[in-house]
Amino acid sequence: MKYSKIKALLESEKGGMEVATRGWVRTFRNKQFIALNDGSTIHNIQCVVDFENTPEAILKRITTSAALDIQGTLVESQGSGQKYEIQVTKLEVLGDSDAEKYPIQLRNRPSLEFLRENAHLRVRTNTFSAVMRVRAVLAYAVHKYFNEKGFFYFNAPIITGSDAEGAGEMFRVSALPFDGTPRTEDGKVNFKEDFFGRETNLTVSGQLEAETYAMALGQVYTFGPTFRAENSNTSRHLAEFWMIEPEVAFNDLNDNMDLAEDFIRYVIKYAMENCADDLKFLEQRLIEEEKNKPQAERSEMALLEKLNFVLENNFIRISYTEAIDILKNSKPNKNKKFQYIIEEWGADLQSEHERYLVEKHFKSPVILFDYPAKIKAFYMRLNEDGQTVRAMDILFPGIGEIVGGSQREERLDVLVEKMNALGIPEEELWWYLDTRRFGTAIHSGFGLGFERLVLFVTGMTNIRDVIPFPRTPQNAEF
Ligand code: 4AD
Ligand code: MG
Repeated sequence: MKYSKIKALLESEKGGMEVATRGWVRTFRNKQFIALNDGSTIHNIQCVVDFENTPEAILKRITTSAALDIQGTLVESQGSGQKYEIQVTKLEVLGDSDAEKYPIQLRNRPSLEFLRENAHLRVRTNTFSAVMRVRAVLAYAVHKYFNEKGFFYFNAPIITGSDAEGAGEMFRVSALPFDGTPRTEDGKVNFKEDFFGRETNLTVSGQLEAETYAMALGQVYTFGPTFRAENSNTSRHLAEFWMIEPEVAFNDLNDNMDLAEDFIRYVIKYAMENCADDLKFLEQRLIEEEKNKPQAERSEMALLEKLNFVLENNFIRISYTEAIDILKNSKPNKNKKFQYIIEEWGADLQSEHERYLVEKHFKSPVILFDYPAKIKAFYMRLNEDGQTVRAMDILFPGIGEIVGGSQREERLDVLVEKMNALGIPEEELWWYLDTRRFGTAIHSGFGLGFERLVLFVTGMTNIRDVIPFPRTPQNAEF
């Protein structure tokens, strides 16, 4: 017999036929009702066992997470909640799951922290299966969007010799032995003897390489893993995260902002259209979770309402200078409620400031642009004022920064001067500077942190819960 996915069975036009399916037990009640799930949908299918004619030894093996092969008749369900159930005629236990030892007891409502320690099994819960399906659909939407817009998918190297952000937060890649490391005469590690004959690290961003490709293919995007050795133990930072980085020749900063907005709306809309059941479940989950919080800390909008808000309202665009004025005059700044008080122009914005702007002041996603050159990376285009650069950050409610981007400095002399001032060796980025030597043109791009997008869309609150196996300081299990 042909096996069907549970999603297809639940969406059948009619009942009455013989069906077969395979999945894992979620619950088993009264020796009779199995809630079976195969990952194809958030919904379980109820399988009704003829327990009087099933040996006790078999019934005992129907435990949470056991793998079953089930055959029977698809019939209209008497109970509420689902259209069909299976009247089981044949049941085979494919793989047992010892109830005494299985770590995830759904009845006890395991905490998210506990589930993180069991990241290999947590995807068998409703919450994590929903999150990971939404993540997969969003990833598909990313490729679909850029394909439809005529972008080329570009694969930046993972191992690189450069520090794209100039922040020095890199994981070294080396094949040298820890003991007996080869040294130069002055006692330094001799990287000439290392695998690549030079110092190398895991990439923090594919941008610099993507720029070289945009200057030939016109519009490209990366979508790959990036690595940061920043010791930020927050609910928004990972040491290994996935980033999407489009780069477009001849785009200025306004085009860049338009692209980012259009892109974000498209992928959110795609997820809403293709993950309706999962998002409905996640909306309910969030409501339950927030019941334990004081009113003031609860989300003002339910999940779907919040997603719709992003689809229907333009993001607010203001300059860094305007934002500083708003923050300086804000209540939490005057009452010294901010941990970092905004005193003057030039201050770097902390997430408390970003969240104030987005969640309290504008109550909308915000794009901040024209930041002080001093607090941004070397490659951003200097404005005529000599103080600010054509940078933009997109800030989202509950998330803070979701996108960072800029128009790039296309003028060779200005770029070299900036690199010299920051002590970035020209020799190391000779190839990058070549794009400014041969056919330079204005161009722009941005990076969107994929996990921050998944956080926003699923309503989860910790970034460790939207990537299968999170890597964070002091944690690389699995
Ligand atoms: O603002 P960032 O550092 O920008 C860049 O890397 C540029 N090269 C992008 C570009 O212009 N092509 O990072 C971009 C985004 C952030 O806005 C954030 O969403 C995400 O990447 N991000 C992180 N996500 C999770 N964990 C971290 N440690 C992150 N660091 C940045
Ligand atoms: Mg940034």
